[in-house]
Amino acid sequence: MSKKHSPSDPTTSSIWGGRFETGPASIMQEINASIDVDRRLATQDIAGSKAHCQMLVATGILSAADGKAVEAGLDAIAAEIAAGTFVFSRELEDIHMNIESRLAERIGEPAKRLHTARSRNDQVATDFRLWVRDALDTLDGQVKALQAVLIEQAERHAGSVMPGFTHLQTAQPVTLGHHLLAYVEMLGRDRGRAADCRARLNECPLGAAALAGTSFPIDRAMTARALGFDRPCANSMDAVSDRDFALEYLGTAAILAVHLSRLAEEIVIWCSEPFAFVRLSDAFSTGSSIMPQKRNPDAAELVRAKVGRVIGQLNTLLIVLKGLPMTYAKDMQEDKEAVFDAADTLTLSLAAMTGMIEGARFNAERMREAAGRGFATATDLADWLVRVLGLPFREAHHVTGRLVKLAETRGCGIEDLSLDDMRQEAPGATADVFAVLGVENSVKSRTSLGGTAPDAVRRAVAEARRRFLATAGATGGTKP
Ligand code: ARG
Repeated sequence: MSKKHSPSDPTTSSIWGGRFETGPASIMQEINASIDVDRRLATQDIAGSKAHCQMLVATGILSAADGKAVEAGLDAIAAEIAAGTFVFSRELEDIHMNIESRLAERIGEPAKRLHTARSRNDQVATDFRLWVRDALDTLDGQVKALQAVLIEQAERHAGSVMPGFTHLQTAQPVTLGHHLLAYVEMLGRDRGRAADCRARLNECPLGAAALAGTSFPIDRAMTARALGFDRPCANSMDAVSDRDFALEYLGTAAILAVHLSRLAEEIVIWCSEPFAFVRLSDAFSTGSSIMPQKRNPDAAELVRAKVGRVIGQLNTLLIVLKGLPMTYAKDMQEDKEAVFDAADTLTLSLAAMTGMIEGARFNAERMREAAGRGFATATDLADWLVRVLGLPFREAHHVTGRLVKLAETRGCGIEDLSLDDMRQEAPGATADVFAVLGVENSVKSRTSLGGTAPDAVRRAVAEARRRFLATAGATGGTKP
């Protein structure tokens, strides 16, 4: 390697400095370098380079001997990175040039032929797709694990009665199992979104080169296949400038984080002393430095808060990409930090949530007692008046409202009113009416499809296991 092109030469960049007289200002280097962030693409970058190299050999663009040297060199670099001995350099800007430059140090001439029919533009687009694809698979596995612990608890509490809320006001009794299975459904849709994103993402940009394609007789189907993509991207300009996959990942992540924040908020509420529906394990609670009695649900609060970061990263990338003219622009370099941060945040939040749910001890007694407060069975009374006495529902609603008001003035529940009280408002009422007023009777009667009756919940648990846990994963299976 001549001194002029040495990577440590302070005057020019070894990779693109041919037409430059002097090197970049240090502040230029600082704003330009992405290695501190994109070093996380090392594995994907090496996989992409190996696939490209094999294709160059197969199409006769690169000699077999050079190809062998390049592959061996890349393997050695992968080992250096794994061992932590690889020296990442900011002067070499990014992961692509760090690896290429190290390859040249190790094997000399053949390294300089690897970039034939390729550009960093299609290279980074490929690396990043591979990374996001792995992130989607990780996310799918983690969400599935959370679904599994929710389903466990749902089974355990298929018959545990608790107040169901609207407006956070006691509405109707439900079972905890039913409540938890609602989150299993949300998470199922999150996995569906991840699967959709993965399917659309799975096209290979490699071979688009800088933006216009290449005059070399490359085989794009071959590289696409080698990297586990379904096909090459159809348009070279779109291939290098598209970051929809990153936006879709962040969109999926943001919705998932919103779901986690809702569950986290419920945990915070349920842990509070006036509720005391649940006690988190010691492993997922913290104490107060001044108030010895405290058991704080910090993990739930942090999961609730971290949604802000994930939504923020989606917003960041939307704004970075807005108004960018075709094709690649350096703006796009800002894409990775947003995605990496969202992915790290989600990984941690999902693990914390799974740990919390797994070790949570619900207080069925306490929940049942709360379900009995707040006239939670008023709808059951109205339904009985419709079903047995043939009242129109709107009228039954009014009659029940007056009985609730009477109970309220007496400071008792509607089930504590006498039959005479009932008959004042609903003349045909019989003693049978009291049977529907207990919270257990109320939940037992809600047998409609998707309803809260304990037997229906037990069936839903079995269904959920089949739909969400039996398969190998909604998205996995095509890693390179
Ligand atoms: N580090 C760059 C990025 O992440 C790689 C692509 C650079 N391409 C270029 N034409 N400067 O976007």
